[in-house]
Amino acid sequence: EEKLLLHNKKVLITAGPTRELVDPVRYFTNFSSGKMGYAIAKAAKKMGAEVTLITGPTSLEVPSGVTVKRVVSTQEMHDAVMEEFHNQDIVIKCAAVADYKPAVRYESKMKKNKQDWHIEMEKTVDILESLGQKKEHQVLVGFAAETNNLEEYARRKLEKKNLDLVAANDVSKEGSGFGSETNELVLFGKDGTKKVLPLVSKDKAAEMLLTEVSELLD
Ligand code: PMT
Repeated sequence: EEKLLLHNKKVLITAGPTRELVDPVRYFTNFSSGKMGYAIAKAAKKMGAEVTLITGPTSLEVPSGVTVKRVVSTQEMHDAVMEEFHNQDIVIKCAAVADYKPAVRYESKMKKNKQDWHIEMEKTVDILESLGQKKEHQVLVGFAAETNNLEEYARRKLEKKNLDLVAANDVSKEGSGFGSETNELVLFGKDGTKKVLPLVSKDKAAEMLLTEVSELLD
């Protein structure tokens, strides 16, 4: 019997968007559906891994056999990742994390009046960057959602966040990135390698990505 590529490996995956509330009925978010991250969780399970999925709000069904932790805000996703990451072999950060949040979060619904409403935004914590500073033996994989200068920005993220691999997607391309059923990933390795994957289903893209990642394990 052939041994599965991720046999007995512990894999942590983040997926979906995060949400930043400004009052109890209004929030900031982005277009992530969670499809890419859930596809990675499903493929990792199929390849023999023990999978934990930390997910922002999505309408997707969790793949069977996968442990799930649901979060809403960036801070909650940060705390969940920090709690789980220690005994993981591989961490893949596919979530589209909100980079900014309202500086003030109101306890009650803001009433409409005649004035405009100016909302001040402050930076959220960068989860992947905190992980990059803490990692020991883990293989750390990030995503890069770009609309231009894909290679330059992706390589910058690889370096800044101390990643082993970054999966870049051009989210301005048809059939690629947010919400679509397909994706076209370009993988950049910390050793300078570049691998362009074809436009395929997110399930297939997940499988191809995990095959590359499995080669980084020692
Ligand atoms: O969910 P789908 O609809 O299937 O869409 C898939 C996807 C487009 C969301 C996915 O393929 C993708 O690109 N995910 C990462 C989106 C993103 O936030 O990229 P970024 O370039 O802004 O962030 C770079 C990396 O840093 C990401 O791995 C992100 O998880 C991480 N990050 C970002 C901000 C932050 N505060 N903390 C982080 O850890």
